[in-house]
Amino acid sequence: MINKLFRKKSVDQIIADAQEGTGLAKVLGVRDLVSLGIAAIVGAGIFSTIGLASYEGGPAISLLFVFVAFACVFTALAYAQFASTVPVSGSAYTYAYVAFGELFAWIIGWALVLEYAVSNTVVAISWSQYFVSMLEGFGINIPKWLAMAPGYAIDAHEKFLSAGMTALSASDKVGLHAYLSAPRVGDVPIIFDLPAGLITVLVTWLVYVGIKESQRASNIMVAVKIGIILLVIAGGMFFVKPENWTPFMPNGVPGVMGSVAAVFFAFIGFDSISTTAEECKNPQRDLPRAMILCLVICTVLYVAITLVLTGMVNYTELNVKDPLAFVFKYVGFDRMAGIVSITSVVAITSALVVYQLAQPRIWMTMSRDGLLWKKFARVHPKYRTPSFATIVTGVVVAVPSLFFKMDFFVDLTSVGTFFAFILVCAGVLYMDYAGLSAKSKFRVPYINGKYLIGLGFIAAWVILYRYGQDTLKEWIELPWLEIIEHKSLLVVFWLAWLILAVMGFKYRFSLLPVTGILINLYLMSQLGASNWIIFLIWLAIGLVLYFMYGYKHSRLNKDV
Ligand code: ALA
Repeated sequence: MINKLFRKKSVDQIIADAQEGTGLAKVLGVRDLVSLGIAAIVGAGIFSTIGLASYEGGPAISLLFVFVAFACVFTALAYAQFASTVPVSGSAYTYAYVAFGELFAWIIGWALVLEYAVSNTVVAISWSQYFVSMLEGFGINIPKWLAMAPGYAIDAHEKFLSAGMTALSASDKVGLHAYLSAPRVGDVPIIFDLPAGLITVLVTWLVYVGIKESQRASNIMVAVKIGIILLVIAGGMFFVKPENWTPFMPNGVPGVMGSVAAVFFAFIGFDSISTTAEECKNPQRDLPRAMILCLVICTVLYVAITLVLTGMVNYTELNVKDPLAFVFKYVGFDRMAGIVSITSVVAITSALVVYQLAQPRIWMTMSRDGLLWKKFARVHPKYRTPSFATIVTGVVVAVPSLFFKMDFFVDLTSVGTFFAFILVCAGVLYMDYAGLSAKSKFRVPYINGKYLIGLGFIAAWVILYRYGQDTLKEWIELPWLEIIEHKSLLVVFWLAWLILAVMGFKYRFSLLPVTGILINLYLMSQLGASNWIIFLIWLAIGLVLYFMYGYKHSRLNKDV
């Protein structure tokens, strides 16, 4: 049984499998890859979730963007090494099949549903917010109960009952209005986000009939995205009041770290270009360059835009879902708010398309490996697209986007993606250990971590002891049960560091992937226990599915 669970695909076997299909044209260079990367990265994160993040963390969120970017850079290097060794689509799922065997491959594939399908729910909800704001600009008002998740309206109503009208923010008032004006079945108000569901159906239909973005169309959409962001930065700069930047960190470090999920969400997607490895002219040179370039460009834009938003209005006003348009409405520049709303709708649509295309293709790869039902690999005879998998993706994204709050999915996506990133970084350590790295055309630069990982661990504790007495005191005074409840994720982080230090000493681990694991794990530990629990439930469901189907039907069965 253990043999079966950890059976691996060899690099040669994967490349041979990939060649069974039609050979793809090797046409992509660095510029194309950067463009594809930005198409995937820039979406709901910077258009929407940055609002709530700034509300909770204040202007200091700009620094969190830099910190999170580092985690992504280390991960990008690991992705690049895998992509140059196993240059086939399938992304982290395929890499895990090589490094850790089938069970982990399945788990990663299952976690990638969170990165692609579940994140697209957020993108659809964000699209809806900008769409509604755009229509309002044209004087068309959709009933509020038809354009929001019921949770927002119910929360606003409860807040109103407990604290009164004066306690409500502008967006709470919209929620309350939705609650009071909604039609009712018995006592239950009927509230849902119709535009989010409809756009998902429309985009699903587009990708079903095979209208893929051509490189040219993608380049134009990317230009639109970057254009709006630059416009907001340039136009907003004139309205910045530096006094809004004080206090810079109004809710302290916890306020900033509480927004890790939202900030990380904005970077998700840089890894998706690794799936184009088969179509790159020179993947080993261009993929790492393109991923790092994407991250640098996005970090600069994100930091600038956070400073502009929090400089234009006080951070306490930013708890809105369409912050880029909102800030211009707030300062009375309605024409600009209108332009931002319209262009944002176009820009966010392109992000929706990217993920709605990616998810069915990952399922198709898994189905070809026998881990999912054969239907998932079915290709439409006329449109040449994975028809069944595309429809399932549409349903999986559209239905929740009608009813759920965005924040829930942001957290869930982030936890799943961190998990995938950690495994990809760990995969590089395995490749080094198994001698597979010798086959890699691009290698994560090797710095011997034999002593450095352990020294880093000791240094971190010395610094904590020297400067973090308050934190240490808090830990010492906490009863065990409370530590388990509130700090167990941090305990996992420190334990992982200790284990890596010991193993790193023994196996001379490469320092950069280890750093990638640790930064990702640290950020993941900040997400809150409830997110981990939901993620573990998600994994458990995945495992049940695997044992019900994939374990028995895997193509590797005949080899064991
Ligand atoms: N990074 C992607 C976005 O912000 C997921 O929409």
